[in-house]
Amino acid sequence: MTQTNPIFHRLYRVLFLALISSYSFLHYACKTNPEAAPTGVVHNNAMVVSARIEASRIGMEVLKKGGNAFDAMIATEIALAAAYPFAGNLGGGGFMVYRMADGQTGTLDYREKAPLAAHRDMYLDSLGNPDPKLSRIGATAVGVPGTIAGIFAVHEKFGSLPMEELLAPTIALCEQGVVVTEKQAARLENYRDQILEVNGDSTVFSNSCKPGDTLRYAALAQTLRRISEGGRDEFYMGETAQVLSQFMKKRGGYITMEDLAQYEAVWRDPVTFQYRDLNVISMGPPSSGGITMQQILKMMEPYDVSDMGHHSAAGIQLFTEAARRAYADRNYYLGDPDFVEIPVSEITDPDYLQERMENYNPLKDTPSETISKGEIAMYESSETTHYSIVDQFGNAISATTTLNGAYGSKLYVQELGFFLNNEMDDFSAKPGEPNMFGLIGAEANSIAPGKRMLSSMTPTIVEKDGELWLVVGTPGGSTIITAVTQTILNVYEYGLSMQQAVEAPRFHHQWLPDMIIFEPEGFPESLKDSLITRGYIINQDRTPIIGKVDAIRVLKDGRLEAGADVRGDDAASGF
Ligand code: GLY
Repeated sequence: MTQTNPIFHRLYRVLFLALISSYSFLHYACKTNPEAAPTGVVHNNAMVVSARIEASRIGMEVLKKGGNAFDAMIATEIALAAAYPFAGNLGGGGFMVYRMADGQTGTLDYREKAPLAAHRDMYLDSLGNPDPKLSRIGATAVGVPGTIAGIFAVHEKFGSLPMEELLAPTIALCEQGVVVTEKQAARLENYRDQILEVNGDSTVFSNSCKPGDTLRYAALAQTLRRISEGGRDEFYMGETAQVLSQFMKKRGGYITMEDLAQYEAVWRDPVTFQYRDLNVISMGPPSSGGITMQQILKMMEPYDVSDMGHHSAAGIQLFTEAARRAYADRNYYLGDPDFVEIPVSEITDPDYLQERMENYNPLKDTPSETISKGEIAMYESSETTHYSIVDQFGNAISATTTLNGAYGSKLYVQELGFFLNNEMDDFSAKPGEPNMFGLIGAEANSIAPGKRMLSSMTPTIVEKDGELWLVVGTPGGSTIITAVTQTILNVYEYGLSMQQAVEAPRFHHQWLPDMIIFEPEGFPESLKDSLITRGYIINQDRTPIIGKVDAIRVLKDGRLEAGADVRGDDAASGF
């Protein structure tokens, strides 16, 4: 059999890709997709979409009384700590991406940090093996919380209403109580034994509750009142800091007064890139979200994605192959930019990304073992939460906030009224060993004092023709990046409305485990059979849902359409 000369083969591939790139560029430059009629909630002026109607309403009321999107961000973020304690928090952290009405963009990193006493091998046992319980459950798992520093940083730079006015609605909500939904009751029941094991029966969550019950949070109201009076320093240096650090000491955790006093949120440049005629603005490291999404979309860009058809075997295959390669890079190269050198321009270079797709074969699977870099194998989680805001002035906020696992470390500070995160598990406890999502990290994400752990959170804003178009994000651990990317493609390439794009079934591939994970509902058997024929392994047992996307689309006439995910209790509020 004649062997093709590898140099000719390579040349042929480069020419082929150059040809399809130019075809695609010209094709799309001339293509104008008609705007899909909205099917979600529509408002004329402003919108907040979050995991709970109580939080969306609180954000919306702030806008209605003249506050801007940043004021609403503060109010919504804090409201989620009461309305959605599964992931909303004072004891965790997050990322915010913003776009001002005049087009200025930026991001805020209020991600947790490793305590000063942390060290590379802190979760290894005497045999040098990771002890997952230490990084996942209870006081040893907790990173220094960033949420309160985050809201005060936002307030200082962009806030227009007094902080007391922004915290007051949540204080009232804590006192009136939050009505338990069916989904919330089921979640609490799922995790009650673990919460009891960590905290005993002293917390508000120790009794079983049913839909329609009301949960009140007197201690959280008290903490928020103190923060309202004493400001940021109350949480990081005042009475709250003292209670927290003493509690941590008693429970065997690492966080001290010094850790709290040193915490700072950081303003960072966004990851910004073009996908066809869209301008995508997303979160950079220490989140992997923006760069990994950029890699996926830029690897797909040379192909005629919309002509492949929504949820066609060809479309899913192309997405999967791009995601496989992007996730392989994600874990090898990415970490906290304040600690590690990240080759951002190299791994987002168009030639590099074309090379990554050189062995893509539209007729068959590319086994992950043949893809170099990346040692990643993480599983989904639906914890974390996202909210999207557009205000009546045209400012937009995309924010994702988290405790990491469901109810974080499960450790609840009864005196202060909030759960503490288990974000330390997002570090790689030992390069090559899996974390709670099966994530096998690399050196770039090893533990060091004061370092931020790598995240997948992908709060994103998309511009079209230079104007604000989409605000989007989701929880979902490692599946966040693919869920956000698919939502954008659903609207842009496949002409779905915002609500349809959010509701559409989702799939996920992350290099390892080498399988396409499908939501069990919504994909026809014939499609899965066709992918199996091409060599793909299909998994539908991993997770009942992938992400809970909350998004906003700006329609051509300026009205706003919400996409509130029916997978949760997510809801929009606007005017
Ligand atoms: N803790 C989930 C994430 O940051 O990706």
